[in-house]
Amino acid sequence: MAEYDVVVIGGGPGGYVCAIRCGQLGLKVACVEGRGALGGTCLNVGCIPSKALLHASELVHEAETNFEKMGISAGGVSVDVPQMLAYKDGVIKANTQGIEFLFKKNKVDYVKGWGEIVSPTEVRVSDQTLNTRNIVIATGSEPASLPGVEIDEERVVTSTGALELTKVPKKLVVIGAGVIGLELGSVWGRLGAEVTVIEFLDVITPGQDGEVQKHFQRILKKQGMSFVLGAAVQKVEKLKTKLKVTYKMRKDESEHVVDADVVLVATGRRPYTAGLGLEAVGVETERGMVTTDARWRTNVPGIWAIGDVIAGPMLAHKAEDEGMAVAEEIVGKHGHVNYGVIPGVIYTAPEVASVGQTEESLKEAGHAYKVGKFPFMANGRAKAHFATEGFVKLIADAETDRILGCHVIGPGAGDLIHEICVAMEFGASAEDLALTCHAHPTFSEAMREAALACGGGAIHA
Ligand code: NAI
Repeated sequence: MAEYDVVVIGGGPGGYVCAIRCGQLGLKVACVEGRGALGGTCLNVGCIPSKALLHASELVHEAETNFEKMGISAGGVSVDVPQMLAYKDGVIKANTQGIEFLFKKNKVDYVKGWGEIVSPTEVRVSDQTLNTRNIVIATGSEPASLPGVEIDEERVVTSTGALELTKVPKKLVVIGAGVIGLELGSVWGRLGAEVTVIEFLDVITPGQDGEVQKHFQRILKKQGMSFVLGAAVQKVEKLKTKLKVTYKMRKDESEHVVDADVVLVATGRRPYTAGLGLEAVGVETERGMVTTDARWRTNVPGIWAIGDVIAGPMLAHKAEDEGMAVAEEIVGKHGHVNYGVIPGVIYTAPEVASVGQTEESLKEAGHAYKVGKFPFMANGRAKAHFATEGFVKLIADAETDRILGCHVIGPGAGDLIHEICVAMEFGASAEDLALTCHAHPTFSEAMREAALACGGGAIHA
């Protein structure tokens, strides 16, 4: 019987990071993973493969729309989908193998198989039992199902199947205008599919800053994506040659039907706890989520939980932070995650990134704020890149000038947002940012200009 300080169940960004940190802190640790590769949803069927396809399809779009303007002629651009998928698979392999290397380096035992908690100190994996002082549940999430819609991962797909389509569908219907729907809708749209997004709410990307939502939708429409908002999908019928998607408009209950070759169901994800044995050991859950206290402890002493399986945004980086924090807690240190400063990024072109409060959330809280905005149209570097769509919107406290949030739509937004994260962690004011020299010519000058706009005014707008 193996003896461990910690057994982490799940090898995704939450679990593998937790296991590595446990190893670094001198704990004897095992990470149990059943899918045959480390990295979880993120590396195998999520963040990483989608970014590979987004990158490749963005280059296709760039070649088609901007090469000629820059005096580049590369002949007609054509796409070899199987080769593009092979490139994506290569990226996945390089990343997952990288984690195996990190496990060896940090003395983490990689136990292959599905783990079941049989007691607060025992995890069963096939015919092996791991004896341990602590168990960390990091089992992640799975796509939520939709009544009336049967997933087959070929014609009716989740994000997993949408990363494996062997040819570009003529008509792609996306159910749900969230992050997955818009990212993968963009991929196949750029490769030639006619994309229609059907969304239950009256806005896309729920929770985002309202101005960003509207601007983002306009940009996506211009790129050729169609939207049906305020509509609930009722069913998807599979005919021999096509799919029929029926939806009902919320405002007048009218029913409509749209044809598709492929339907992507992107209506959210739910915590994954099947077969984990939570009931048997008495770990409490609420609406499928494992319940924890503020230090990631479940109600059963010695059992902890992190990532998509607990409350909070289902984001790889949130899970990673929790993974590191739990390892610190286990050795008696103080684990720390600042949930007020967790950035969110949508990797479309342009990218959308946000952190902290939105105007809407501040209004609701009755918190007085000011806004500094700067358009990429006025940024020299963006002009040179034909990437002038979008803006930076910085939100600061009306009285103290402390930065409360930032919303960026534009080139490299997903990287730009981090200077705001650092500024917020240090409790910076908009003036602090405005007084910080930013290299010219960079996209990040737009961040400083937005900070200037919070005070005396931007220079270039
Ligand atoms: P989501 O929660 O972001 O969006 C789902 C959308 O589907 C919502 O707008 C919802 O109103 C809509 N919807 C629900 N039922 C519907 C119906 N019957 N008909 C029409 N619309 C309906 O979920 P999504 O995009 O599936 O992503 C799942 C999770 O994965 C999210 O938590 C997301 O943050 C995360 N993720 C993050 C990424 C990133 O950070 N770049 C990339 C991919 C996923």
